[in-house]
Amino acid sequence: MSATISGFSKLSKSQKIDWIVSHYLSNSETAKQTITQYFNVDSKLQQLHDEFIENTISNYYLPLGIAPNFEINGNVYAIPMAIEESSVVAAASNAAKFWMQRGGFKAEVISTTKVGQVHFMFNGNVKDLEAYFNTIKPKLITDTKVITANMEKRGGGILDIELRNKTKDLNNYYQLHATFETLDAMGANFINSCLEQFAKTFKAEAEKYLNAPIEIVMSILSNYVPDCLVRAQVSCKVEDLTHKGISGKAFAEKFVRAVNIAEIEPYRAVTHNKGIMNGIDAVVLATGNDFRAVEAGIHAYAVKNGKYSSLTHAKIENGIFTFWMEIPLALGTVGGLTGLHPLVKVALDILGKPTAKELMQIVAVAGLAQNFAALRSLTTTGIQEGHMKMHLMNILNQFNASKEEKESIVNYFKTNTVTHSAVVSEIEKLRQ
Ligand code: MEV
Repeated sequence: MSATISGFSKLSKSQKIDWIVSHYLSNSETAKQTITQYFNVDSKLQQLHDEFIENTISNYYLPLGIAPNFEINGNVYAIPMAIEESSVVAAASNAAKFWMQRGGFKAEVISTTKVGQVHFMFNGNVKDLEAYFNTIKPKLITDTKVITANMEKRGGGILDIELRNKTKDLNNYYQLHATFETLDAMGANFINSCLEQFAKTFKAEAEKYLNAPIEIVMSILSNYVPDCLVRAQVSCKVEDLTHKGISGKAFAEKFVRAVNIAEIEPYRAVTHNKGIMNGIDAVVLATGNDFRAVEAGIHAYAVKNGKYSSLTHAKIENGIFTFWMEIPLALGTVGGLTGLHPLVKVALDILGKPTAKELMQIVAVAGLAQNFAALRSLTTTGIQEGHMKMHLMNILNQFNASKEEKESIVNYFKTNTVTHSAVVSEIEKLRQ
């Protein structure tokens, strides 16, 4: 089944649903029912969600969970996490509890500089271009005053603009490389508006000073923010790591080895970092931030030394185990979805209305905790034990198992291996 259409965006929501259902779905009545059952009964709330994006036909739910007992710099947080993957919230909660008994997490914002670039081509004399840039630089800044006035009042704004010569990498390619302080805003709109104004001013005045034209290719912020950095850490005496019959020394040594492997082996590093992103993305999403931007920036940082590597590091020194991570995070606690999505507002309230800097610390800690929990399972029991328990519940829910059926089957799988087919066969047996 397939079809094309022009003017889809102009159809009403129910016309859009009818079109997609009749052209792409064979069981159209059931499909329509599934799509519409996710509408919110509150029509205003529904409209708000409809208008976040374009061509909306329904809502796509993700569970919002809470990982409590996170002690960060002496304050205790209950961290909201929006994620579809089972075990992630449980793992974060376990790690939080574990570290609360061992001094909690420490986090520190190292820097908060964001970046944007005007990419342009110029096939003339470099010295002329440099002289022109130095002449025009003050005007680049004054021409953005309408955009920057409010941000400057609050202490932020444009930090600097540099001319960068990239002609060694690409013929005639230069950049206006600008840095910004956007305080509690993620700053994408602010930065992009400034950049587009830089581009206009830069091009408009160029003809007076240069004998070759400037071709503006594009103006856009960078999601690579290696100078918007946060560090999260835990540490304790090695013997304090003794847990569930495993000596602290044995655990710490194996844990450090697991981190060392991710530091040198990209196949492992990607999965290791994916586990970190389980924690990071879940909090980033719950707090209405752009997880794609965060993902892109963090993975680029993971390859900053030329080879993809672990984001976390661990060591044992003088009997002290230390586990830490430094990551770039451009987050906002004002603007964007933060003021629009009612659940995002609640999530930020749960976190005590954090500043962007505080949110950077919380998100980094959630990532570190997730990695700690994953490595603890992987280097001790393996992760399948916990995962399969959750997997079992998912299968039981898929089969609409009753409370009694669940009890009986969970009990059976305490001593039997969970596989999809084994669970299905147990359900069928019970139902015969
Ligand atoms: C699963 O979502 C994440 C893990 O694979 C992470 C890891 O291997 O470190 C468990």
